[in-house]
Amino acid sequence: MKILLTGGAGYIGSHVLVCCLQAGHDVCVLDNFSNSSPEAITRVEALCERKVHVERGDIRDIALLRRILSEGGFDAVLHFAGVKAVGESVAKPLKYYDINVAGSITLAQAMQEAGVYRLVFSSTAAVYGDQSAMPLTETSALGQAASPYGRSKRMVEQVFEDLQMSDPRFGIAILRYFNPVGAHPSGRIGEDPRGEPANLVPYAMQVAVGQREVLSVFGDDYPTSDGTGVRDYIHIMDLAQGHLAALDYLVSTSEYRVWNLGTGRGHSVKEVINCLNEVTGKVLPLRIVERRPGDTAQCWADPSKAVADLDWHATRGLHDMLADHWRWQQQNPDGYGKR
Ligand code: NAD
Ligand code: UD1
Repeated sequence: MKILLTGGAGYIGSHVLVCCLQAGHDVCVLDNFSNSSPEAITRVEALCERKVHVERGDIRDIALLRRILSEGGFDAVLHFAGVKAVGESVAKPLKYYDINVAGSITLAQAMQEAGVYRLVFSSTAAVYGDQSAMPLTETSALGQAASPYGRSKRMVEQVFEDLQMSDPRFGIAILRYFNPVGAHPSGRIGEDPRGEPANLVPYAMQVAVGQREVLSVFGDDYPTSDGTGVRDYIHIMDLAQGHLAALDYLVSTSEYRVWNLGTGRGHSVKEVINCLNEVTGKVLPLRIVERRPGDTAQCWADPSKAVADLDWHATRGLHDMLADHWRWQQQNPDGYGKR
């Protein structure tokens, strides 16, 4: 297949790019590198021994999208481009609605004009309400997301659902990610956060390599087994392979479908830290602090719909995720270097 990958230089996009190239697909990446480095693409090219066509530009640029899509002969679009910092989204909601919502609408308009009807979209478990029982299924109640970021993702889901209803030529897969962690086992590509990491594993990794002094545990008084928050961490390569499975599904059907991509297993913050201590051979310095506003006690997936429909399931456990993430972190303490 010929695939347009928006945001293909980012953390998730670059790992999906590897899977696409290894599956023999022809891929064009569209990225403005606002949160990534061209070095990620260079490394993917070296890993896969394939060249990737790269368009530097913005998903909100309709003229650019028209040109790329009308000239390209694409069979599908995998849409990762967007902004994802929960805290920043509270301070700058318009940026989030503009890039995530308006950008996705612009992309869909250009796809419709060019007659490209297969679309896979990166959504998030943050769209579920925090009162739902665990594990979360695709039919669990959708809540009032805790942030403009979460709401922007839910809005795009709704836009795409309406679009598919109005134009049944579209096949649209919504993938609700749980917590992606890890890196390609080569250690050549991985997550490269800018500034202070907002998420647990990237922060803990920077503590482990000595770039930060202490890991704050956000609350140990949750109603969970050990009092710390529980999440469904999923290996980035398992997550990436879920995209190829969704793409395969869209080859034979034109529908709007939603799938959870998670492992079905929750781990507490303390379990993650214990496993990380094992993997790194260090004891991470910790301090228990207040709960982080907007956090829920627990969140994990029921992935059985993806297992049934897509014949996909996560095969790697927490130890694999942290070992691969640690390899990337050790080999690239400064990520892809200066951006
Ligand atoms: P990322 O920031 O590493 O990748 C996003 C990529 O999109 C970057 O390369 C960035 O430069 C690019 N980009 C941003 N705005 C753009 C624009 N206007 N035009 C073109 N390119 C643009 O993030 P990621 O972790 O790889 O996430 C990919 C997608 O998955 C995002 O949509 C994110 O919201 C979603 N998601 C991520 C997580 C997670 O934990 N990482 C969880 C759920 C959903
Ligand atoms: C966060 C986002 C969510 C987004 C997801 C992407 C918030 C409120 N939620 O989810 O919208 O889709 O990332 O992966 O930001 N923790 C610590 N110390 C830290 C960091 C985190 O104890 O320094 C705890 C958190 O309280 C939580 C767990 O670790 O219990 C995981 O946190 P994180 O990695 O930030 O992911 P989420 O909060 O699940």
